[in-house]
Amino acid sequence: MIETARTKAWSVLAQASERSHVLYGWQSQRFGPLGRIDGARGVELFESGGRAVLDFCAGQVNVNVGYGHPHVLAALRKQMESFCYVAPNLASESRERLAEMVVEAAPGSELSWVFFSNSGSEAVENAMKIAWAFTGRRKLYAAWTSYHGATPGASAMSGDPRRLFVEPGLPGIRHFHAPTGWRCPFAPDDPEESARLCLSTFEDQALRDGPETIAAVFLEPIAGTSGLYKWPASFVRGLRAFCDKHGILLVFDETMSGWGRSGTWFACEHYDVLPDIMVTAKGITSGYVPLGATLITDRIRGAFVSRPFVAGLTTEGHALACAAGIANLEVYRNEGLIEHSRELGVLLKEHLAHLKERHASVGDVRSEGLFGCIELTADREARSPLAGFRNSERDVAGQIVQRLWAAGLFLIAKWDFIFIAPPLVIARDDLERGLEMIDQVLDFTDAVIHS
Ligand SMILES: Cc1ncc(COP(=O)(O)O)c(C=O)c1O
Repeated sequence: MIETARTKAWSVLAQASERSHVLYGWQSQRFGPLGRIDGARGVELFESGGRAVLDFCAGQVNVNVGYGHPHVLAALRKQMESFCYVAPNLASESRERLAEMVVEAAPGSELSWVFFSNSGSEAVENAMKIAWAFTGRRKLYAAWTSYHGATPGASAMSGDPRRLFVEPGLPGIRHFHAPTGWRCPFAPDDPEESARLCLSTFEDQALRDGPETIAAVFLEPIAGTSGLYKWPASFVRGLRAFCDKHGILLVFDETMSGWGRSGTWFACEHYDVLPDIMVTAKGITSGYVPLGATLITDRIRGAFVSRPFVAGLTTEGHALACAAGIANLEVYRNEGLIEHSRELGVLLKEHLAHLKERHASVGDVRSEGLFGCIELTADREARSPLAGFRNSERDVAGQIVQRLWAAGLFLIAKWDFIFIAPPLVIARDDLERGLEMIDQVLDFTDAVIHS
């Protein structure tokens, strides 16, 4: 099945990759890369030979301002001319300015200190260390439906199957059920009841575990690659209240959901709940240069005034990354990208509902702003998975990605999920064009369930 769906170009690339010395993340190495890119502009990738492919997942849900943005390129050139890097204990204008802008954009008024790292995973690792050091406690809680990164600590925090590569993981990490709507094990058809039951199950678990031993609860305000779930507000507010009552820190991981992706600056704005620590990366620089950020409150920073801070990196606050970050945040504001994400999000929601009506293999559709997901099913009534989390033999997601690539669309599909998260600069026509291609590939998944 896999071989028949593969294009000729794909197998040529796979063979070439055998000689390229490059290892590709998260995939069996025999598959090699999907394509070879010579250029990129706006929402399009250009293959060698000139074919344009529409990027429907903004790289890895990070290239929010699109490729080759002149404002970002100019800022990078300017920074390069003065210096690219200085040691982390030396101050520089770009790091100070970006910290100021990030604090200004961050939710609420308490997150006023920023530690810059190089990725979302590092930002999560640093949040874990800060939580341990600040509270003097070791246990950390995260949702089963979560992904927090690829480094050993962040992987162990992740609930999705990528955690299995580091099992048994770190001692003291616990996972809890969050209200996943259509997929909720408790009350799939009643979001409020699902939130109530998940919260009381979490509370029961944490109380048995000794809340005075728990340092922090980590949550993606909208879960990303583990299935795109927006939680009922009552659940997030309940977690906040429990943390407050027991001196536990609440950490929001806005690596993917931040920077306008869900139609607000940060996804936690949907609930009116503020964290003690916020982690972010991706859209902070749109991938022009890698950058992660861990934001903490004044209260937490206070613990490190007279004793050493627990994190440090050779390239913390890299000048080029900070210059890219400043320019990105300017683009968000100058081009009204947060509003654009919210507005086009209405169109995306309508189209997704239509796809669900048309295709029997679509179990559920979820979206907020330009952050969308189609969940496939073998049987909508029974809510049974199509490929599920482990079914690599069927590799339905792999075939979807390859078929769409051949048709001119790049996106992320894994397990039973097809993700839609284009650059926030996407035009309405391009959004509709990409959704039409997805409509066609769903004929293939419909055929799979009928075969
Ligand atoms: C919510 C979340 N946290 C952390 C990470 C890890 O970020 P990175 O891949 O930059 O290390 C990701 C990556 O997708 C993510 O979605």
